[in-house]
Amino acid sequence: LSSEKYNIKRKNYGAIKPPDIDYFKSLLSNDRVLTEESDVLPFNIDWIKNCRGQSKVVLKPKTTEEVSQILSYCNDRKLAVCPQGGNTGLVGGSVPVFDEIVLNLSSMNKIISLDEISGALVCEAGCVLENLDNYVRDHNLIMPLDLGAKGSCHIGGNVSTNAGGLRLLRYGNLHGSILGIEAVKADGTVIDCLRTLKKDNTGYHLKHLFIGSEGTLGVVTKVAVHCPALSKSVSLGYFGVNSFEDVLELYKSAKESLGEILSAFEMADNEAISSTVENCKLSNPLEDYPFYVLIETSGSDESHDDEKLNRFLTKEMESGKIVDGTITSEPAKMKNIWNIRESIPGAGLLDGYVFKYDISIPLKNYYDIVLLLRKRMGNKVTRVYGYGHIGDGNIHINVSTPEYSKEICDMLEPYVFEEVAKVKGSISAEHGVGFRKPQFIHYSKDGTALQLMRDLKQCMDPNGILNPYKVLPDN
Ligand code: FAD
Ligand code: MLT
Ligand code: ZN
Repeated sequence: LSSEKYNIKRKNYGAIKPPDIDYFKSLLSNDRVLTEESDVLPFNIDWIKNCRGQSKVVLKPKTTEEVSQILSYCNDRKLAVCPQGGNTGLVGGSVPVFDEIVLNLSSMNKIISLDEISGALVCEAGCVLENLDNYVRDHNLIMPLDLGAKGSCHIGGNVSTNAGGLRLLRYGNLHGSILGIEAVKADGTVIDCLRTLKKDNTGYHLKHLFIGSEGTLGVVTKVAVHCPALSKSVSLGYFGVNSFEDVLELYKSAKESLGEILSAFEMADNEAISSTVENCKLSNPLEDYPFYVLIETSGSDESHDDEKLNRFLTKEMESGKIVDGTITSEPAKMKNIWNIRESIPGAGLLDGYVFKYDISIPLKNYYDIVLLLRKRMGNKVTRVYGYGHIGDGNIHINVSTPEYSKEICDMLEPYVFEEVAKVKGSISAEHGVGFRKPQFIHYSKDGTALQLMRDLKQCMDPNGILNPYKVLPDN
């Protein structure tokens, strides 16, 4: 149990009683109140099987009004609630710790409107990201974010975690792309900031409170997202590189040479790719190299874009920074290459257990921690590997072992966070704090900032019913 593994005590919330279940059944239809142990189990376990809660009930509201009534009731009864989207979160925020009620948003999955001229999409929070991307593509638009979990994660979960992913380099983070939000406060009050305006400086920008607050300040029920135009010409380069210094030089050169058409710049070390290819039985179009780089371009004029990309390729093959590579514009081939990159998170799980670190770090220090960890962990672990979003200064470090081990955990934590703090990095670049990291948040947030976070929590959720044990440390 997560509570046992992390030595934490249940707080003084109400316990769910039969009349509570009767109330929820009177509010929602019976099939949207899950209480059978086998039905509830999947909602208690997170994607990396790192955290497991003990909830006895899952509620699946269909409307904002239902969310509001549920929260108002829970607030009066001091019943704790864990908001849940697609349950793909990587820090244990999406599953209960004890018996919190799971409030799962998957039945709120309607698209409300799309303005093809401005690109404003309005939808319910439980829409799956990939479904939204497919929908807007039919209207020559794309979603401003993309991640390996797109087939399961919800836009409401993306907003609540301020998800980054593969397109952040091009379209910025969600604070810039989310035009409006409707959210429900812990006491059931509906906050309607669901505008589709690009500009709206009427006082405090309240929508930002819900972006990245991981379900601790409110439940996001609807969102308005700005969707950029779909690029007519897209190409993907996949390159073998000899050293990390060359990866950095290539990034600088790609920004200079490709300019406005550069849409993604990802890296993975040899261990990340070789273990993924091996564990997931994929085929790697390139031989073995110390590092791999993925460069995507998206533009509007194929011949212009190809010319730029080919000029860049010729220059960097001559300079020796690219030792081998392939460029393609064929959708099936691009999908295969992206699939290798997007399979890295899941491949680690096939080793048994993965300790995951998601850090922002100055680019000159970007890869140091992988080398430090390899030395520190030696043959106590199966693998240590790094991959991530170079363009965002965000590296993911996975340490895989046959199974969870407290000894290994103690060797990794807080060591990793101390190293990150030394260079003023962030201990969570894009995955959030969730249940796994509140005790380490002070490595990235100072005391006054943490106090303001606590004040906000007290103001928005005075009974602390929303996603307890997450994000904020106890003291
Ligand atoms: P969940 O996992 O269900 O919840 C995440 C958090 O948000 C929880 O704290 C939950 O309480 C809260 N929450 C969910 N919905 C709501 C709501 N409607 N209102 C209020 N709170 C809510 N993340 C990245 O940033 N970049 C990546 O590139 C990336 N790649 C991934 C690849 C894979 C294969 C996997 C498994 C995960 C990846 N993630 C990535 C992590 C994860 O997918 C994101 O954090 C995603 O945004 C979570 O969305 P979700 O709907 O699954 O939310
Ligand atoms: C990614 O970039 O693949 C994700 O953030 C998931 C991970 O860190 O494994
Ligand atoms: Zn990532």
